[in-house]
Amino acid sequence: MKKQIGLMSAAVLMVAALTAGAKTEQVRLTNNTPKGDFEIFSWWAGDEGPALEALVDVFNEKYPQVHLINATVTGGSGVNAKAVLKTRILGGDPPDSFQVHAGQELIGTWVTAERMLDLTPLYKHEGWLDVFPKDLIKYLSTDQGIWSVPVNIHRSNVFWYVPANLKKWNIAVPSTWDEFLKIAPALQAKGIVPLSVAQTWTVNQLWECVALGVLGPDDYDALWAGDLSWTDPKVVKVWDTFGKILKYTNRDAASLSWQQATDMVVKGQAAFNLMGDWAAGYMSTTLGLKPGTDYGWSASPDTKGVFVFLADSFGCPKGIKNPDATIAWLKTCGSKEGSDTFNPLKGSISPRKDSDLSLYNDYSKSAAKDYRSDRIVGSLTHGVVANEGFMNDFSTVMEMFLNSRDPEQAVNACQAIAIQNRLGK
Ligand code: GAL
Repeated sequence: MKKQIGLMSAAVLMVAALTAGAKTEQVRLTNNTPKGDFEIFSWWAGDEGPALEALVDVFNEKYPQVHLINATVTGGSGVNAKAVLKTRILGGDPPDSFQVHAGQELIGTWVTAERMLDLTPLYKHEGWLDVFPKDLIKYLSTDQGIWSVPVNIHRSNVFWYVPANLKKWNIAVPSTWDEFLKIAPALQAKGIVPLSVAQTWTVNQLWECVALGVLGPDDYDALWAGDLSWTDPKVVKVWDTFGKILKYTNRDAASLSWQQATDMVVKGQAAFNLMGDWAAGYMSTTLGLKPGTDYGWSASPDTKGVFVFLADSFGCPKGIKNPDATIAWLKTCGSKEGSDTFNPLKGSISPRKDSDLSLYNDYSKSAAKDYRSDRIVGSLTHGVVANEGFMNDFSTVMEMFLNSRDPEQAVNACQAIAIQNRLGK
């Protein structure tokens, strides 16, 4: 394992080393008419595609002389896309714009490696400094500039279920993990999976929600800031609780996509699925289900009043072929029309303060309300609180834990990768 962790970190360092010495550069706004081939890159393919396709339609209508190439590499949370992106950027062949999470995935990886252009002139030109919440802009910025344009705000700590099934099984939505652990054995005895999970990144996401529940938001934030040691007994308790919960998940998780884990709930094979609210997009847009009746939701156990956020964004890498079209794309991403076309289909809410909520379904309306009133913390799995190096190494620790189920071993390994990847520094 040590060797793998070493290799991952070396790759990230190599990105930084290859580019060290380059200067901060700003995008240049021109009056040129955007035209020609233009490539965007993301992991929004297949079931995850409709929202992006609708945004592309808005773009195509505005910029008919551009030939947009919608390059996607499938795989939830970008597990495959991010590796391809790294190879392309290191190879000097960046797409004209690419999907990247606000926070450390952007800042601690691509901005640190000096691969992005500063978008401050575009933000000023479009009036975005007033339109996007300051707290969100903070996650897209350093003191050197603003590095991407947010297209959405997703929530990752959501428990999904089918109300009619819970009624049939005579159970309520657990508001704590203790309650979950009480109802889980009887469900399992009936052949119902208490909590469905899929491939490793979804297990990481479950872990971060358990961590938030066990630690509470202050200590959760302290962990990412480097102010709470991974070997603290509170963190050992996180892994211990997590291990207990895992006993009530499906055994075939590693071979499932996130959609298949959500399907298990829809089909009545599982009681709950913990998933980001792209699951609402999937259930409403792709499966045609109605929020509130066909599917229900609540904050994951022990996290009521806290909103684990992540935001997808697009930026302008250095060395691209079509900067004029990239600026046009970023304008579309940040526009009211683009945002309120994309987000109702995606299950996310618009990052714009002037978003028209009448266009959104009941789930998204409730998410928008929570986003305004809840305590906001960042997601690990979706790039907010730690850089790519830490995230990759964390997945390795998770694989190890899934085999050993040893909390002490896990916290020691986490402490090592936190130091190695300069977590919180
Ligand atoms: C997240 C991304 C979401 C959604 C999800 C599942 O990382 O931010 O927009 O695509 O992965 O693939």
